[in-house]
Amino acid sequence: MSELLQEIEKRRANRALSEEKIPDETLARIMTAATYAPSCFNSQSWRYLVASDDGALAKMREALTEGNYWAQKAPVLIAVATKIDLDCQLSDGRDYAFFDCGLATQNLLLQAIKEGLYAHPMAGFDPLVVKKNFDIPEEFTVITLVAVGFPGSDAHLSEKHLKLETSPRSRKPEQEVICYNAWGL
Ligand SMILES: Cc1cc2nc3c(=O)[nH]c(=O)nc-3n(C[C@H](O)[C@H](O)[C@H](O)COP(=O)(O)O)c2cc1C
Repeated sequence: MSELLQEIEKRRANRALSEEKIPDETLARIMTAATYAPSCFNSQSWRYLVASDDGALAKMREALTEGNYWAQKAPVLIAVATKIDLDCQLSDGRDYAFFDCGLATQNLLLQAIKEGLYAHPMAGFDPLVVKKNFDIPEEFTVITLVAVGFPGSDAHLSEKHLKLETSPRSRKPEQEVICYNAWGL
């Protein structure tokens, strides 16, 4: 197995985060990794708001849903935002802003794993609270928050989340999502 595939497989949506601070240089490398993603016409439509000081973290934490209680411990919470006109918009409805943010954010997640961190994207937050707390202009969509932290204790995790932490990976069979040479899905 190639090394990169091993790294990709290693990434999991872990929740047992430590509150230990992430060194600034490590955080900077993770963010740089995001910026090397490809994007339509090199539009680079991703916008990242990195919350790492107490004030910013409190504002970001306020937006988390109850189900994401575990992310309250994260020493870094990153908001991923974009607006549709920052990227290619094709006449048949193909808007690439969200796609390109996904590519960049996966880079960020993989670099985080390489740095010995967990990095977990979330939809469970109120985007309007994030926008209000940080004065993000109306036209932006806050797509996801990413909780980042070193591996920590799992003592505070619910039974369900504790099980997920070490459960086998769950993936659709490849023939359900990939076909070769002719459409068969
Ligand atoms: C866009 C997106 C939103 C997600 N939202 C949440 C969330 O709010 N809370 C959570 O615990 N996990 C969330 N996840 C993590 C997924 O549940 C997880 O990636 C999926 O179950 C596959 O597990 P794996 O990442 O460990 O392979 C989200 C993942 C993505 C990509």
